[in-house]
Amino acid sequence: MRTAAATLAIALLLAGPAALAADPAAGKARATQCAACHGADGRAVLPDAPHLAGQSDLYLAKALRDYRSGARRHEQMTLMARSLTDADIANLAAHYSRLAPDCAR
Ligand code: HEC
Repeated sequence: MRTAAATLAIALLLAGPAALAADPAAGKARATQCAACHGADGRAVLPDAPHLAGQSDLYLAKALRDYRSGARRHEQMTLMARSLTDADIANLAAHYSRLAPDCAR
């Protein structure tokens, strides 16, 4: 019983601070495969792809989780999100949210 409670406490601790522990540098490295559409600087280069630079990290992470789970569907993004881990998502969201938004250029 005590072990179960301890395990639960650890699981909650790990689930919560994942976003706090996000590593934007790792996100930047992972983002090389996103650049063909979303641009190296988060400013989209495809006409139907959204700019990601300066977007809220919470929103970006939610969008990626939703593509991964199937709650949000899009042919290309569903494929891209499939292989992302929770850490990848947190890191990518941290990276893009720190870039200057399109309107600031
Ligand atoms: C082949 C082109 C392509 C690639 C590669 C790609 N995306 Fe996308 N992405 C899109 C398109 C198109 C949309 C708009 C999809 C829609 O309508 O839901 C999108 C949407 C998104 C959104 C939602 C933005 C919003 O405003 O709701 C996020 C976040 C995102 N992409 C992140 C990524 C990340 C991170 C990667 C790399 C791991 C990536 N994308 C790779 C084309 C791409």
